[in-house]
Amino acid sequence: MDDEAEVYKLWRVRKTVMQLCHDRGYLVTQAELDQTLENFKEMFGDKPSERRPARSDLILLVAHNDDPTDQMFVFFPDDVKIGIKVIKTYCQRMQEENITRAIIVVQQGMTPSAKQSLIDMAPKYILEQFLESELLINITEHELVPEHYVLTADEKSELLTRYKLKENQLMRIQAGDPVARYFGLRRGQVVKIAYGVTDSSAGFFLSAGLFVAHPMLPRIAVVTGANRGIGLKTVEALSRIKGDGWLVYLTSRNEESGQRALENLRLKNCRFYRLDVTDSQSIFDFADHLRKEYGGVDILVNNAGMAFSPKSTLSLAQRAQQAVATNYFGTMNVTAALFPLLRPHSRVVNMSSSAGHLQRIPSMELKQKLASDSLTVKELSSLMQEFVDACQNPESVRDVWGEFPYVVSKVGVAALSRIQQRVFDKDPRPDMIVNHVHPGYVDTQLFRLYHEGTDISARRPRPPEEGCKSCVFAATIPENAGSPKGEFIWSDCSLVDWVKGPLPTQPKPKES
Ligand SMILES: NC(=O)c1ccc[n+]([C@@H]2O[C@H](COP(=O)([O-])OP(=O)(O)OC[C@H]3O[C@@H](n4cnc5c(N)ncnc54)[C@H](OP(=O)(O)O)[C@@H]3O)[C@@H](O)[C@H]2O)c1
Repeated sequence: MDDEAEVYKLWRVRKTVMQLCHDRGYLVTQAELDQTLENFKEMFGDKPSERRPARSDLILLVAHNDDPTDQMFVFFPDDVKIGIKVIKTYCQRMQEENITRAIIVVQQGMTPSAKQSLIDMAPKYILEQFLESELLINITEHELVPEHYVLTADEKSELLTRYKLKENQLMRIQAGDPVARYFGLRRGQVVKIAYGVTDSSAGFFLSAGLFVAHPMLPRIAVVTGANRGIGLKTVEALSRIKGDGWLVYLTSRNEESGQRALENLRLKNCRFYRLDVTDSQSIFDFADHLRKEYGGVDILVNNAGMAFSPKSTLSLAQRAQQAVATNYFGTMNVTAALFPLLRPHSRVVNMSSSAGHLQRIPSMELKQKLASDSLTVKELSSLMQEFVDACQNPESVRDVWGEFPYVVSKVGVAALSRIQQRVFDKDPRPDMIVNHVHPGYVDTQLFRLYHEGTDISARRPRPPEEGCKSCVFAATIPENAGSPKGEFIWSDCSLVDWVKGPLPTQPKPKES
């Protein structure tokens, strides 16, 4: 590496170290935090190849703001790989100066015996190890890392009192978590994490939600459109599978039928909340309720949906508007509002249909757009709105979208799920999964309406308790299973290629 690149690297690494010390509460002056590359060169030189600076010149000793006797060294060893001898030298210096904490910034790593010596010296002497490469950027400033805030002792006890919790009931952050390492978190410290990720390119409009994980508060599953049909059976199945420690929210737009459905279930771990997926106020009320009561959501099943009878007297434009508003925009808006609340390992299920397969779209060009890996939610929503507008003139949509609003709305749900998974993949919360599912032909009010005037027994619909299987499967994918994600899950829980097909055979549904 030439001198210019090397000096730049040393400046960046030391600057991150300064910020880290500052963020841990050690006294670092503003001038040190703002140090430019030029200042650094003036202070230390610009010829690292001639030891101007040598790494050992960069050593720091900082004192804590609250207790100046609490001091910390930051060592920059010259050796590329650190052996036990170097550690011993540092330890001796710490003993001499009565300092018990230090950071060692290493170029390439440590020998196993050096690593072991760090473990042996703890807890009397705490020596943390960072690689230079880890400090080239400040991880806490990365756009995908939510804001972390380390609570003071008073804030911690206030939190525990407020939620009537014991310390060991809080969710644990891994000691090796990069942000935990940055803050040098010690056992017993509590960190608050603000999961408020904004991804405007993907069309999620997210408010910053504050999230403190409490495993002893229940984990939360939400099912929309759950007063009857597949949604109701999904609530029942999730409630039984998840059991204690979980609350399953049966939501519906109609309070009376929702409450009645809940009462009939007689399950202790179910709750009702009114939620109309086409009403943004209703969505935000619900999100607010969940945030205040539980601080997060773990499973979201976007089941609410509607279809039309073939005998419907509504115009194509009216049917398109209603189907897209409920099935597509309803799903999108509920997910967008609850997205900031989703906890690590969340599972989202978007209820699609066999009608939602991409092959249902006649136009090749439109198919390519919908299947594109760079499609955003904003673009997809514009396409959905274009379809609704174009339905004013039925002739204009026939060869492009086809004539079935239900199909278009469910194709939209499928394309949305694929985009949402791409957003999840970039999210700092680990193991976030969304899939779109087909429940099969299921004997429900919607199914009967959709096939009104035909002999439905020929299609052999399954009862709702069976029809919820693929949905429940997708909602209960085990933690860290890794797959299926962003997939189209068929009624038998097999995966179907949404782009290439083929569509598994089943009696061809009649579309409305
Ligand atoms: N049954 C099938 O064969 C089949 C096949 C493929 C896909 N699906 C999908 O499965 C899902 C569930 O349907 P289902 O068959 O169980 O039919 P269902 O019994 O008619 O249930 C539909 C549910 O959606 C609710 N809903 C409609 N609009 C809503 C809104 N704006 N806000 C909140 N909830 C709303 C309904 O509530 P109300 O009682 O208030 O109307 C009802 O609870 C739908 O997404 C459907 O497209 C079903």
